[in-house]
Amino acid sequence: MTALDETAIGGLGASRRRVEDARFVRGRGHYVDDIHLPGMLHMEILRSPLAHARIVSIDTSKAWEIPGVRLVLTGEMMAQRNLAWMPTLSYDTQAVLATDKVRFQGQEVCVVVADDPYIAKDGCEAIVVEYEALPAIVNPEQAAAPDAPVIRDDKEGQTDNTCYRWAVGDAAATERAFAQADVVSSLKLHYPRSHPSPIECCGSIADYDAGTGKLTVYMTTQAPHIIRAAVALVAELPEHMIRIVSPDIGGGFGNKVPIYPGYVAGILASILLGKPVKWIEDKSGNLSSTGFGRDMYLDAQMALRSDGKILAVRMHAVTDQGAFFADAQPSKFKVGLLHSAFACYDVPVGLITAEGQYTNKAPGGVAYRCSFRVTEAMFFQERMVAAAAADLGIDAAEIRRRNLLTDDRFPHRTAFGFLVDSGQYHKCLDLGLDAIGYEEFKRDQVAARERGRLLGIGISTMTEPLGAGNSREYDILGIKMFDSAELRVHMTGKAILRTGAKTQGQGHETTWAQIVSHELGIPADDVIVEEGDTDTAPFGMGTYASRSTPVAGAAVAMVARKVRAKARKLAAHLLEVSEEDVEWELGRFYVRGAPERGATIQECAAAAYSNMPDGMEPGLENNAYYDPPNLTWPFAVYIVTVEVDPETGVWDVLRVVAVDDCGVRINPMIVEGQIMGGLTEAYAMANMQFQTYDADGNQVGSNYMDYLLPTAWETPGFELHEVVTPCPHHPIGAKGVGECAAVGGPAAFVNAVHDALASTGVRNIDMPVLPDRVWQALQDGRDVSGAPPVRSDS
Ligand code: CDP
Repeated sequence: MTALDETAIGGLGASRRRVEDARFVRGRGHYVDDIHLPGMLHMEILRSPLAHARIVSIDTSKAWEIPGVRLVLTGEMMAQRNLAWMPTLSYDTQAVLATDKVRFQGQEVCVVVADDPYIAKDGCEAIVVEYEALPAIVNPEQAAAPDAPVIRDDKEGQTDNTCYRWAVGDAAATERAFAQADVVSSLKLHYPRSHPSPIECCGSIADYDAGTGKLTVYMTTQAPHIIRAAVALVAELPEHMIRIVSPDIGGGFGNKVPIYPGYVAGILASILLGKPVKWIEDKSGNLSSTGFGRDMYLDAQMALRSDGKILAVRMHAVTDQGAFFADAQPSKFKVGLLHSAFACYDVPVGLITAEGQYTNKAPGGVAYRCSFRVTEAMFFQERMVAAAAADLGIDAAEIRRRNLLTDDRFPHRTAFGFLVDSGQYHKCLDLGLDAIGYEEFKRDQVAARERGRLLGIGISTMTEPLGAGNSREYDILGIKMFDSAELRVHMTGKAILRTGAKTQGQGHETTWAQIVSHELGIPADDVIVEEGDTDTAPFGMGTYASRSTPVAGAAVAMVARKVRAKARKLAAHLLEVSEEDVEWELGRFYVRGAPERGATIQECAAAAYSNMPDGMEPGLENNAYYDPPNLTWPFAVYIVTVEVDPETGVWDVLRVVAVDDCGVRINPMIVEGQIMGGLTEAYAMANMQFQTYDADGNQVGSNYMDYLLPTAWETPGFELHEVVTPCPHHPIGAKGVGECAAVGGPAAFVNAVHDALASTGVRNIDMPVLPDRVWQALQDGRDVSGAPPVRSDS
């Protein structure tokens, strides 16, 4: 016997078909809304029509009269149970149901529980709420004005609308570097509000069993254990009497990390009624009230030498947080990982200052397919580099070549404190430029311009810090960020693996089994993966920020190694040799010097239950908690070519080339799927997703006619390339990848359009780069800002 063929058993590097798709593509997924419990009632939410208003009165009497209505909850009723407000994951508070004021259009005001969802909706319509309108604040500039009404007057000591201030870097050294610059390049940008828009909205079924005192909540959460801790805190229930079950999830993208009022109200309703209460959010509810991303303004300068060498960067970011600071950031970093900007470049010094402002909008800042504001960081970085190249008259590829870290620079400590450990940035850039035919395109572009055609090419590079923690620096609400895996090998050699992560479509059921297969030689088909049930899964921080592979995936490798260590003892016993004389090859142990004498992993598993040595504990299982020593640092280059129609401002994508280095790929097919998905979202953000508010705080783009999701029809084709720089500290050399293309992609599209307009003097059109904005810029050669309008009378 010899070692198994790893690809044949579905191990590392196999493009194994996604096992979860067997149920997903047949419509047999099991989502929250598929769960029907006996006696279950249904909850609907009444939302505020106004962005900012004092609540004068709420009359629920007509709702109570509707047959089938079982409960109407108001903020006052929640307050009687100390549940009108809840803590957020960013040390703020958020109204569960409004008591004093409403602070954004779509805010939760009442809930109605009834025999079916239609009766519950009728109940909501029968509630009469009298509001006294207050002036709405729709952008941070308005929020920071000295006479601005204080949105969060509920908070003791809050006298303005600032919700945080934060700074990182070396102010004095940055000033010195700017004083020595040949050129200072400046740029003001807005990264607009965007919405993750998962296909499945949020929802929950709270099932409080008065007999046992146990609360089970089936819900759409990316982080079940964090929710359990939060429910224990908010509902004051003991943690062991709370079970959170996250079944199949129809996309999360960060939207399903926060704790939403619907979950809390549903739990209280179930406790009060002694029945299961289901809440399934509708599309408008999801699109108007849950977890928005971005909404950040940047005022930035870059100090340069005339040869294009970056000497320093200075960035001031202002975030529009909405009415509650409710997104999850690691506690130390109020503006997420914005300071990962310029991590792939040799930038000696820099200063980032940031402030958050409350506005009359739904809570924002959620890490939409992104590691806590890394998307903004990479977008700003690549727009600034493009602007600097234009200011200096240096080619956009060349300026990157002159500043990207070379391979011999790792490990590299960035100006903002990160340790970037590995990469082959120049190789990736060259591969991308070669693939797109950069020089040839530049020549064609000049010729086309002479004929009045506007062609453009945009480059974006990115390196993203993926895989929070380590626990030294990363925690949420004080809970350290690490992750976990638990592996149980049955006596036939089949296995069950559970982790603290939670897949939302990324394919963990497929790839985790591949890691076990790689470590133990058990065919991947013989390993079932379970996630999302806090009663059975080991404690973990969940899935967001592409942390699954860097952290939980590493825990999977580590637990498999622990199991292999025990299997080695069993093999020694079976082979009647000492453990030191046992060698391992994929799938089997053998006697050193006598390779024909061996025991397969399956034989060892059988022995663990039927023939263990004296004194050995039976069974073959273990668990591992993994605290990564560092983040993982994938790198990517995205290059896009476009043609802009000068008559209409419409721009068409000609080609998209992506070069991704996410270290060792567990499943290349899944990685490619992740990159294509990310590029699709990047294209949508750059091109079409318009999510803003009018001067009264009315949400524009609260439906999918206005807020566009790209279909296969609009989405361009993608040409994918690969470079592999293994992560030096991850047990299998993998780096995260899920978000890379969504993070790095937008700037490539936007830079391409700006390159096409290079001769017009336009320096910046804010995203989304809509045709009318391009057309406007072409008319008057001026920049186009995306900031929401402000009432002229306010
Ligand atoms: O945390 P999340 O699952 O969203 O992101 P990820 O860890 O980057 O993984 C996304 C998917 O790609 C998972 O199925 C991973 O196992 C897979 N992947 C891979 O096959 N190889 C890598 N080097 C990274 C991720």
